[in-house]
Amino acid sequence: MPVISFVSPKGGVGKTTSAVLLGGLLADKGAPVSMIDADPNQPVSSWAQLPGRPENLRVIRDVTQDTVMDVIEEEARRSTFVICDLEGTASLTVSYAVSRSDLVLIPLQGSHLDAAQAARAVKLVKSTEKAIGRPVPFALFFNRVSAVIQPRTFRHIRAEFETAGLPVLNCLLQEREAYRAIFSFGGTVGGLTTAQASNLGAAKDNIADFAKAVMARLRQTAVAAQ
Ligand SMILES: Nc1ncnc2c1ncn2[C@@H]1O[C@H](COP(=O)(O)OP(=O)(O)OP(=O)(O)O)[C@@H](O)[C@H]1O
Ligand SMILES: [Mg+2]
Repeated sequence: MPVISFVSPKGGVGKTTSAVLLGGLLADKGAPVSMIDADPNQPVSSWAQLPGRPENLRVIRDVTQDTVMDVIEEEARRSTFVICDLEGTASLTVSYAVSRSDLVLIPLQGSHLDAAQAARAVKLVKSTEKAIGRPVPFALFFNRVSAVIQPRTFRHIRAEFETAGLPVLNCLLQEREAYRAIFSFGGTVGGLTTAQASNLGAAKDNIADFAKAVMARLRQTAVAAQ
């Protein structure tokens, strides 16, 4: 517990990257983490086969539409955090994973096209809520943001989304070389060397802020549920 799923019908918005960054950080802090690779392309499993995966981070692969709910439930009993990476389509596997999630995170990049895709992800969450008869907490977050984006611009966008009933994480995940490097060298950002990627301090700070924003959203939804 809890189960956090990364969802967007749009390919390439950063589901796998942010899932591995979050899982890696939580594992580096000592928590037992289960990462469920429910994408048939198996990107998390490929990362896990490289050197440097924390010992307390398990990856469960070959997860299908038929097994995803059972796998999530079993891993939720076993680990402190369960993180589910899903394929970039709106499939039954995605809906089933959403139905077993405590938080659905929807990455988007700052374009209108991406916002439309994020809206599709929210619709998928809403239709799953109807099917299972309980709310499924979710939040959007901006990924691949330039490190120099104006906080005022972000606050404006965030306020607009919130007015429309779409919660946005209070952190921008930045575009960072280190976030690509872990998929080449393996392991977590905490284990990278300065020869492998630049600006590691800033990259680590940004992931720590991201994880804090995710935990704050989880706490908020737990309070709302009581
Ligand atoms: N914050 C980031 N900084 C740098 N590169 C990033 C960041 N987020 C994503 N990328 C890059 O963007 C590309 C797509 O990211 P990723 O594979 O995580 O997206 P995805 O949503 O999981 O895609 P798919 O739908 O195909 O599974 C990758 O090359 C990844 O390295
Ligand atoms: Mg992916």
